[in-house]
Amino acid sequence: MKVLITGGSGALGKSLKAVFKGASCPTHNELDITNQKSVNNAILDYKPDVLIHAAALVGIRECEEDKKKAWLVNVEGTQKIVNALKKINNNCYLVYMSTACVFAGENKKFYTEDDLPAPKNYYSLTKLCGEIVVRQYENACIIRTNFAPKGQWKYPKAFTDRFGTYLFADNVAKGILEVCQKKKRGIIHIVGDKRMSMHELALLSGSKNVGNITLDDYNGPPLTVDMSLSAKRWRKYKIE
Ligand SMILES: NC(=O)c1ccc[n+]([C@@H]2O[C@H](COP(=O)([O-])OP(=O)(O)OC[C@H]3O[C@@H](n4cnc5c(N)ncnc54)[C@H](OP(=O)(O)O)[C@@H]3O)[C@@H](O)[C@H]2O)c1
Repeated sequence: MKVLITGGSGALGKSLKAVFKGASCPTHNELDITNQKSVNNAILDYKPDVLIHAAALVGIRECEEDKKKAWLVNVEGTQKIVNALKKINNNCYLVYMSTACVFAGENKKFYTEDDLPAPKNYYSLTKLCGEIVVRQYENACIIRTNFAPKGQWKYPKAFTDRFGTYLFADNVAKGILEVCQKKKRGIIHIVGDKRMSMHELALLSGSKNVGNITLDDYNGPPLTVDMSLSAKRWRKYKIE
């Protein structure tokens, strides 16, 4: 099985590389998803059986401050991948990485695949639009998840009042491998078996000195408060 991964240098990409041994992971320079020619060339060169599309602009503040770039990468970049597969290699199975943040996360928890998305910020909106783009391609799976890499927490503080069914990036990568083996189509939630706060996740990831922050202390773009998902179409994973 020839696997091509976009976003291979990212947090999830690193875990995907370890799980999908021998996969091709061109750098951003080698494969720029905002350039149709670059995407077409990659599909022609690598001739993938599976393409895992994990490249994106993921910073919530960055997407809010540079909406044009966020749209170009997350929506039009995804469209360029779909265009190339349709034109050059429509036997290829496409996996699109989406997010639990497509949901509003207000007064509700454990969103299912059938619940109505309602993004709170521009990043989440572009990820949802990416899902809609991917629906044009039949041989595809949309994975919604929520994860952090193991190790030092990226920020000095973590929210005690934002929640999710989080996993580590390694757990998600293993889940993606299982989804690819079954060639599942449509929306799949890859979720942990425990709902916890981001602060609990930060401690679990191995960081000892992560401070507390609450939404009252926060001053930035609107955020999804409860990102917990349930999985009606797939199994749950133990966070480890
Ligand atoms: N992190 C989360 O909690 C989370 C949760 C749910 C879903 N997701 C989704 O999972 C995927 C991976 O997230 P992540 O946290 O691993 O992101 P990340 O660490 O920020 O990595 C993003 C990757 O995308 C690449 N990239 C950006 N623009 C590109 C372009 N124009 N062409 C080609 N590559 C480009 C980056 O390469 P350079 O760094 O070289 O630019 C990097 O390798 C994303 O689709 C994200 O929306 C993330």
